[in-house]
Amino acid sequence: MNVMTETHPFLDNKPKRMLIGGKWLEAASGKTFESRNPATGEVLAHVAEGDAEDIDRAVAAARAAFNGPWSKFKPADRQRLLLRLADLVERDLEEFAALDTLDMGAPITRTRGGRQRALGMLRFYAGMATALHGETIDNSLPGEYVSFTLKEPVGVVGAIIPWNGPLSASIWKIGPALATGCTVVLKPAEEAPLSPLRLAELCLEAGVPPGVVNVVPGYGETAGAALAAHMDVDKVAFTGSHPTGQSIIRASAGNLKRVSLELGGKSPDIVFADADLNQAVPGSGMAVFANSGQICSAGTRLFVERKIYDQFVGRVAEFGKTLRVGDGRDPETQVGPLVSEEQLKRVIGYLNIGCQEGARPLSGGERLTDGALSKGYFVPPTVFADVRDDMRIAQEEIFGPVISAIPFTDIDEVIERGNKTQFGLGSGVWTRDVGKAHRLAKSIRAGSVWINCYQAMDPAVPFGGYKMSGYGRESGAQHLEEYLNVKSVWIKTD
Ligand code: NAI
Ligand code: MG
Repeated sequence: MNVMTETHPFLDNKPKRMLIGGKWLEAASGKTFESRNPATGEVLAHVAEGDAEDIDRAVAAARAAFNGPWSKFKPADRQRLLLRLADLVERDLEEFAALDTLDMGAPITRTRGGRQRALGMLRFYAGMATALHGETIDNSLPGEYVSFTLKEPVGVVGAIIPWNGPLSASIWKIGPALATGCTVVLKPAEEAPLSPLRLAELCLEAGVPPGVVNVVPGYGETAGAALAAHMDVDKVAFTGSHPTGQSIIRASAGNLKRVSLELGGKSPDIVFADADLNQAVPGSGMAVFANSGQICSAGTRLFVERKIYDQFVGRVAEFGKTLRVGDGRDPETQVGPLVSEEQLKRVIGYLNIGCQEGARPLSGGERLTDGALSKGYFVPPTVFADVRDDMRIAQEEIFGPVISAIPFTDIDEVIERGNKTQFGLGSGVWTRDVGKAHRLAKSIRAGSVWINCYQAMDPAVPFGGYKMSGYGRESGAQHLEEYLNVKSVWIKTD
């Protein structure tokens, strides 16, 4: 399918319904909302707008499935479902790539490039499904006792995801649920609900039993909040902003449900003068400009050693200017629009704040409105020089293609200043000195440290936050533990 010349098969002008208990339903209220293409403002689909009543129905379906036939599925049965789902996603990958590009704006080269990640995750969780196990543990009680642990699925999982990578975010929640034997109610972001709904169709096609995967689109304040507070949800897995993460923790108090949170960041990316600068220029640039800066672990605080600061920051700004900004459907596009008018306003607000605070824009700095760009939400790659640690553009998550470049003089100083943030998600180090690299790997208080690269991700390698970037890990063996309870069993044998 060529997305530039054909209409998308999923966009058939019919209202998109929600999946509850294996059935495609309208919202109980009958309401719908619009999902739009942020490159053009055009409406792509009308989508059922779930609220508390629909969440109730979906949680009931998820509970019934959890207690019912799903509990009889063997690990190998769940593995087979995940492998089948992976094959179906592989079959339709071009369709998914186009759907994500249309719904949230990312360049088609990027959404196509997500292939390995999407399929790799599903096949990783499939592998893990048959690798879960408890332990026998020697005990020291007098007499004869055998003690061992069972790993059991936590139960009904509420999954709440953002819009910055709809397909992969959905797989990141549904995959571990299927692997562990949980059931799930997924609440997609209101900005980009289409890929999650299409993935739900494939779950049914793969043979996932009714009620095991439910998808209820709707707004955060209604559907999301109802899911977070629901008394029959055992765990919430959330990805999004830290204020929403905090409200999810508060909502969890009612039944003390488990919570895992992958929140925002203001990640330091540190360039030493001894680095391979030809790699560090595009590397540190794309650490922020990729996905128009709408990545939680973007390396937005660019610390550059003072003796190369002017030259290096100038080169990153020039690199930013070479990137093609435009409609994500164009295969030449490297930087697409921001996801929504709201996000555009937020980012433009920070561009103004940066200038008022005395930072110096070397590139970008203003919305693009020329020609075809006028209807979309386009902001070009922007580099602010002369940024100080205390500026808001050095402290707050902007979630746009905006680099705050800050000079430093030595390693102790940059460790201290790099860590001076409420967040701790990602971080980058560019150096040829292996000693410096190791020291920073240990000293940075963040869940990931990328050395001479940025944003490397793999289904087997855990990802998550320190501090206000959240807790819990996704990917890796740790991810499955987030969806499991540990039960200890004692048997007196004498
Ligand atoms: P958000 O955190 O409000 O939304 C993320 C998800 O949470 C969406 O599905 C939304 O419907 C849901 N949600 C919102 N309020 C809720 C509530 N009270 N209870 C339960 N669920 C709720 O983030 P939003 O508004 O999309 O973006 C705002 C800022 O958040 C961005 O500018 C960015 O700084 C940050 N963000 C960080 C992300 C990350 O990957 N860490 C992803 C998206 C946004
Ligand atoms: Mg919001």
